[in-house]
Amino acid sequence: MRPSFYVYEELKVFTGRAHPALAQAICDYLEIPLGEADVFEFSNENIFVRYHENIRARDVFLVQPFTSPVNTSIMELLIMIDAARRASAGRITAVVPYYAYGRSDKKDQPRVPITARLLANLMETAGADRLLTIDLHAGQIQGFFNIPVDELTALGILARYFQEKFGPDSLQEVTVVATDVGDAKRARRMADRLGVPLAIVEKRRLGNQEQVEAVNIIGEVRGRIALIVDDEVLTGGTLAATADIALRHGAREVYACCTHALLAGRAVSVMEESPIKELVVTDTVPLTPEKRVPKVKVLSVAPLLGEAIRRIHTGQSVGALFDEY
Ligand code: R5P
Repeated sequence: MRPSFYVYEELKVFTGRAHPALAQAICDYLEIPLGEADVFEFSNENIFVRYHENIRARDVFLVQPFTSPVNTSIMELLIMIDAARRASAGRITAVVPYYAYGRSDKKDQPRVPITARLLANLMETAGADRLLTIDLHAGQIQGFFNIPVDELTALGILARYFQEKFGPDSLQEVTVVATDVGDAKRARRMADRLGVPLAIVEKRRLGNQEQVEAVNIIGEVRGRIALIVDDEVLTGGTLAATADIALRHGAREVYACCTHALLAGRAVSVMEESPIKELVVTDTVPLTPEKRVPKVKVLSVAPLLGEAIRRIHTGQSVGALFDEY
């Protein structure tokens, strides 16, 4: 049995097809080459993976956000983990900057699955030794795993952007706005980082549809700069509805930020048509050129992930990163 302080000698980073640009940026930060592997699909949609380098006993990190096509990205990562396990990798860390199915984290209706838990089981069964991820929809998802989970947050990156953008004087006029009572903790952490007050919107989802209604706002936004904080933007409906209610309650202007810019369907148009002045997101998932409109500012999580990987590899504290990033 390996001693608990065991530190692996060689670090290898590989990517699936979900977000090679992020994997490359992580390797640039680490100043190592991206590992070489074949990852492709046959005409029968079966995925094939083959590592072109010896990974026996190596510390292997597999970068794959669960992004569109989501189910292919998931299956591909499982196959990459299996291939690495069968190639006798020393330790396999699944680097999943965006963990899909996060909203399916409890049985909140009769006869529904807990898919976030199912994914955890699948990754462990495939042979993952650790998970490295960013801003899970709900922190409790960590508990679905029996292997160590390092959940990073992009809040520091987003907070620093707004600190520099507003400067100390305008920052005093900001109120952070949570899009939902259930997500108020995340917004609270952002408000604390910025040293500003918090307001919370009461959101109602219409059945299982992707439609939302902002019904009430708790807290004072009159005459203030509202800064909406959420974990992800999918259709843009939540951010648009939150911006509208903040303005109806007297906010002077509205900005928004999210870690995961899924921006599906008409979301970019919804954002462009909304009163939000700027939407700041990160690159946990790839943003196609059509999504890179002037209103959407993209910040990179590559240095954050790169530093976490370096620390995991060398056995240093990852928790200390929360103060630095
Ligand atoms: C929901 O609980 C999440 O925190 C986000 O508010 C939601 O996923 C955003 O989705 P949409 O952009 O479709 O409103």
